Amino acid sequence: MEKVLITGAAGYIGSHTLRVILESGRSVIALDDFSTGNRWAIPAEVPLFEGDFSDLGLLRNIHRESPFDTIIHFAAKTSVEESVRDPSLYYSENTAKTIRLLDACRVLSIKNFIYSSTCAVYGSVKSMKSDGVNEGTPVNPESPYGWSKYLSERCITDIAQSVGMKYSILRYFNVAGAHPDGSLGAENPKVRAMVTVAAEAAASMSPSLIINGDDYATRDGTCERDYIHVLDLAYAHLSALKRLESGGSSEVFNCGYGKAFSVKDIIATMSKVSGKEIKSTIGKRRSGDLESIFADSRKIRTLTDWLPRFDDISEICRSAYLWEISDREK
Ligand SMILES: NC(=O)c1ccc[n+]([C@@H]2O[C@H](COP(=O)([O-])OP(=O)(O)OC[C@H]3O[C@@H](n4cnc5c(N)ncnc54)[C@H](O)[C@@H]3O)[C@@H](O)[C@H]2O)c1
Repeated sequence: MEKVLITGAAGYIGSHTLRVILESGRSVIALDDFSTGNRWAIPAEVPLFEGDFSDLGLLRNIHRESPFDTIIHFAAKTSVEESVRDPSLYYSENTAKTIRLLDACRVLSIKNFIYSSTCAVYGSVKSMKSDGVNEGTPVNPESPYGWSKYLSERCITDIAQSVGMKYSILRYFNVAGAHPDGSLGAENPKVRAMVTVAAEAAASMSPSLIINGDDYATRDGTCERDYIHVLDLAYAHLSALKRLESGGSSEVFNCGYGKAFSVKDIIATMSKVSGKEIKSTIGKRRSGDLESIFADSRKIRTLTDWLPRFDDISEICRSAYLWEISDREK
């Protein structure tokens, strides 16, 4: 079995995935600069390197000390709003640095590369099919963040082919929830994801929040998203890795459940699981918010052994709420 280097291993999704890959019996090495990640998210037994994922000298040293064949690349800047304010930060941190990491893959003869992409590459889909957005849907990123991730996808596709490396690109839909054992959860204050916002509201003294627009052409007028439990997403990485290890081809996979929940659905579910009534007021639409998007995830279900275990919006909200009220180090 492969030894796996995980960049961004101390972050929200990286730390859950690290746990799953470790539990599968594979050796794991963690790399993080702790710009948004947390040391406590890395188990003590995992070799941990602090630094920048695009530092070839550091990658060579890690490889010399502990050779690895596979990279799972999570490390990135992840705020859409920040990317609009500072696009060059996103193109240099996400795209240019990923090119340098790919150059290192050539130098170190890396066999497999798994990349964290996003449904933001699809942008507003003109005519959503009833079974969701599939991987063949034309891309149309609407923010520098979305473009920086899509351009990285292009670089991976072209460079991996030229150096004989295989890849899986995973396009995540809305990642939410926390580890069921209460040890890991979302921590990046720059990212205002709906389930986290609702969990924070429920945990506060006077639960309330603002709904950004209720005049969309959806069931209840609020935006709809496909929420995937972070641990199911972690298992999707393991499934993608197993497929590459057993000789599978390079592919792009959507990661979602294929169901859309509205902002009002999330508020109602969070109120129910927390036992706190969350009051809401209607605010203006936020620019750039997509009306409705959900995944057609038949490809990953067909080509890998991925089987969702936490496809339950109540469980997603409950785990996020329990994480929010937990006594963790912050
Ligand atoms: N959270 C979501 O809903 C979501 C959705 C779609 C895609 N993604 C993608 O998933 C990946 C992980 O996102 P997350 O939510 O876990 O974010 P996060 O901020 O929790 O984790 C990112 C990690 O990368 C580290 N990092 C950042 N820049 C680095 C650098 N130059 N060198 C080394 N380490 C660095 C940070 O310290 C952090 O630990 C990102 O690539 C993101 O674009 C996330």
